[in-house]
Amino acid sequence: MTAADPVKLMKQEVGKAAAALVKSGSIVGLGTGSTTAYTIQYLGERLQSGELTDIVGIPTSFQSEVLAKEYGVPLTTLDAVDHIDIAIDGADEVDPHKNLIKGGGAAHTREKVVDYLADQFIVVVDSGKLVDRLGSVFAVPVEVIPMAITPVINAIKQLGGQPELRMGVKKAGPVITDQGNMVVDVRFDSIDDPVNLEKVLNNIPGVLENGIFVNCADIVLIGEVVDGQPVV
Ligand code: 5RP
Repeated sequence: MTAADPVKLMKQEVGKAAAALVKSGSIVGLGTGSTTAYTIQYLGERLQSGELTDIVGIPTSFQSEVLAKEYGVPLTTLDAVDHIDIAIDGADEVDPHKNLIKGGGAAHTREKVVDYLADQFIVVVDSGKLVDRLGSVFAVPVEVIPMAITPVINAIKQLGGQPELRMGVKKAGPVITDQGNMVVDVRFDSIDDPVNLEKVLNNIPGVLENGIFVNCADIVLIGEVVDGQPVV
């Protein structure tokens, strides 16, 4: 990816725009992915310059924890706070009702905990993530405990889904989540009722969490390229 890559530029602008919304004294949910990486970086820069003070972050993954430490964003845990003021997180698909598919980075379980707890949940995406209907492009990630992988895959097939175990780099082995589980990516011909599908998938014994997020996002910030320039 070159420096002028338009998708990268959009992610950068939208990630920064979300970070600019964070106020001093806030408890901030730190999302996972290449877009929120820019958010975390810019939060660190704002802290460094003194423009922003007294924030604490709650990471949604080992990746966001490492980035927060790298950029000097202080961290806390859900055991130490009674609320989250604002969460900023990416998405893989966004429908017109602000329903999401997340989990491209296999972090959707922790992301769902943090994003749903936040008083305000801001989604940061480039315009390529917008779809008319969830499942149009992206499969639904489902986190599964390892001993249940076969029965869960069979149950998903019975629901009409096409499951595929997510493999890691060079297909050397399955992707393992921060919780030590596996991810099954499930394609559906059409997701007509995401509210129901989220519940049905989570009802399969052995499923920890799936990547359908409904009735959760407050604001979607969208990065676009207009006349060759990234705008939010
Ligand atoms: C990780 C996620 C990410 O937020 C999602 O995959 C978007 O990532 P990116 O900003 O890199 O496009 O859900 O589990």
